[in-house]
Amino acid sequence: MYVAPSILSADFGNLAAEIRAICEAGCDLVHVDVMDGHFVVNAVAKAATKPLDIHLMVENNSFFADLFLPLKPKFLTFHIEEEKHPLRLIDHIRKNGVGPGIVLNPHTPVSAIEHIIDEVDIVLLMSVNPGFGGQKFMPVVLEKTRALRELIERKNAKCLIEVDGGINGLNAPDLEEAGADILVAGNHIFSSNSYEQAIRAIKLEF
Ligand code: DX5
Ligand code: ZN
Repeated sequence: MYVAPSILSADFGNLAAEIRAICEAGCDLVHVDVMDGHFVVNAVAKAATKPLDIHLMVENNSFFADLFLPLKPKFLTFHIEEEKHPLRLIDHIRKNGVGPGIVLNPHTPVSAIEHIIDEVDIVLLMSVNPGFGGQKFMPVVLEKTRALRELIERKNAKCLIEVDGGINGLNAPDLEEAGADILVAGNHIFSSNSYEQAIRAIKLEF
């Protein structure tokens, strides 16, 4: 299991130190939620020693994609609900050497991406309504994770499954069993006394 701490829950007054701490504590990616300006992302990119996983939660996807593509994140994901021309944007992201990905809100069915699944490196399933950290995990996403795993296998696609929102050491085993590859966690990691132990709990390493 790969772990991507969501810096939305980090201490913003101490951002560079927080990023270094999670990187040293064994995370695999640094999950950056983008809702407004890009200055925070630049600061994160400077401090991180692990690849960035940028999750756009904006209306103007192409504008923000062009801001962040030069930072060469591992993944750049955008919400299908906010994009009229997803295939065009996916193509644009890939041509810039970055892994394109689609995000589905909790209410959006997996069938919405049936004809795009071959084109993306990652699908991010939201397990809370987007906006802020510390919300409760929605168990319905376990069923969606299984449905997405089935779709990927049926299409013989190469895409990874990421789940984001309300994740902790208790629901991580169920998500692994359902077929998730990457788990994002904000509150669980940043409110713990030991980032290393919190990350290990999600990786199911004890
Ligand atoms: C929610 C964000 C998440 C969030 C996760 O809109 O996409 O990345 O920060 O935080 P937790 O793990 O606290 O739910
Ligand atoms: Zn996120």
